[in-house]
Amino acid sequence: MGKRASFGGRLGVLLVAAGSAVGLGNIWRFPCELGQNGGGAFLLIYLVCAVVIGLPIMLAEFSLGRMGQSNVVGTFRRVSGTNKYRWIGYAGVLCALLIMGFYGVVCGWTLDYVYQAVAHGFSSMTSEELSQSFKDFSVQPVRPVLWMMLFLTINCVVVFLGVKEGIERTSKVLMPLLLLLVIVMCVRSVTLPGGSEGLRFLFEPDFSKLTPQVVLNAMGQAFFSLSLGMGCMTTYGSYIGKDINLGHSVLQVTILDTMVSILSAVAIFPVVFAMGINPSSGPELAFITLPNVFNQIPGGYIWAILFFLLLSIAALTSAISLLEVITAFVSEELKISRKKSAVYATVLIMILGVFASLSLGVWSEYKIFGFSFFEFLDDVTARFVMPLTGLSISWFVAWKVGRKRLEKELTNGHTIRAKYLGVFLFLLKYVTPLAIIVVFLNQTIDFF
Ligand code: TRP
Repeated sequence: MGKRASFGGRLGVLLVAAGSAVGLGNIWRFPCELGQNGGGAFLLIYLVCAVVIGLPIMLAEFSLGRMGQSNVVGTFRRVSGTNKYRWIGYAGVLCALLIMGFYGVVCGWTLDYVYQAVAHGFSSMTSEELSQSFKDFSVQPVRPVLWMMLFLTINCVVVFLGVKEGIERTSKVLMPLLLLLVIVMCVRSVTLPGGSEGLRFLFEPDFSKLTPQVVLNAMGQAFFSLSLGMGCMTTYGSYIGKDINLGHSVLQVTILDTMVSILSAVAIFPVVFAMGINPSSGPELAFITLPNVFNQIPGGYIWAILFFLLLSIAALTSAISLLEVITAFVSEELKISRKKSAVYATVLIMILGVFASLSLGVWSEYKIFGFSFFEFLDDVTARFVMPLTGLSISWFVAWKVGRKRLEKELTNGHTIRAKYLGVFLFLLKYVTPLAIIVVFLNQTIDFF
């Protein structure tokens, strides 16, 4: 194998990792979860999860990846020197596949909304019409599937071309622009008459709504949003240069990602309450509320196009990271060319995606444990696979890699300081696993 590709510089690392983290998870999934899990209390628990679970696991994944210089499966083999732990890597690759099964569908929706924004700009549509139009669209058998396939094809081409040129460059320009747009929407949204109730829903925690379920969902969301618990950040870690301060990067990515989630919720919930939309309406939440905001700002036509375009791009930079996990695994472990690997993985994802998309419409009567296939993929990955794989990764890094090697990695071979090492190891060894296990058991007890 030749020299492994690497991201250029500190800013490159930040933007590529943030590009993976910031995506539909922040703008689409976070507000949706928040609405279904009672608002403020969910937000609070989410923040605790991001600090106690998110930060340590991301740092663990980055250092593991940079140490291993390989795909997820290869990394476990190289770092441990045995084949014993590669199942953790396999679980990660499987998880990437399952996530992409439904993520690709939502990515397709974003493209359709770009198209709609250009075609009619949602102008003069009431919130009932927006909601109806989303439902009519998402249950169709063909249109969402075609958009999904188009999206996945673009995704495949980018991964095909290599991560550095395409993604790094796009992320650098577009991520800041997306942030700006979300801020503009927040400002308009909070100044809507009747919007303050939305802010209250968001920032006044009602602890009576706090159930073990809600905590598990908040934890799942933290894993999902920060791209953790499946080797995505491990794979990206393997492309990070040896001179980068991993501790700083992790902190920056986590702060940025959390900011975008909160801003998205601030853009969405005032509209929800001002327009009388049900806060727990589910996956369509972002798609039916945000066009309302565009209707109410000058130049809304242009804003709408820009917004959905940037949303697609945010989705793309995340989808790329997911496809990269599978592609790196297939090409390095099975010794198939990168290009072929990306294509095979994409075809597999498309097949899952077709099932997921149709499960919302024509096949909606087929349920798995009461869930549609789409919801099943989403739920099973966020609530089980990611936390369990995340637990295994943190266990491996904390107990198998050992303090010495970790210290060397985090201090870049003792050239920079990592004063947080003690705290990090303590969190990773005891607090993070305990938190995951407690949340899990609680949920199981609740279940019976
Ligand atoms: N974090 C991304 C988002 O918020 C989605 C994502 C990308 C992801 N890579 C991941 C989720 C790895 C879990 C694991 O949209």
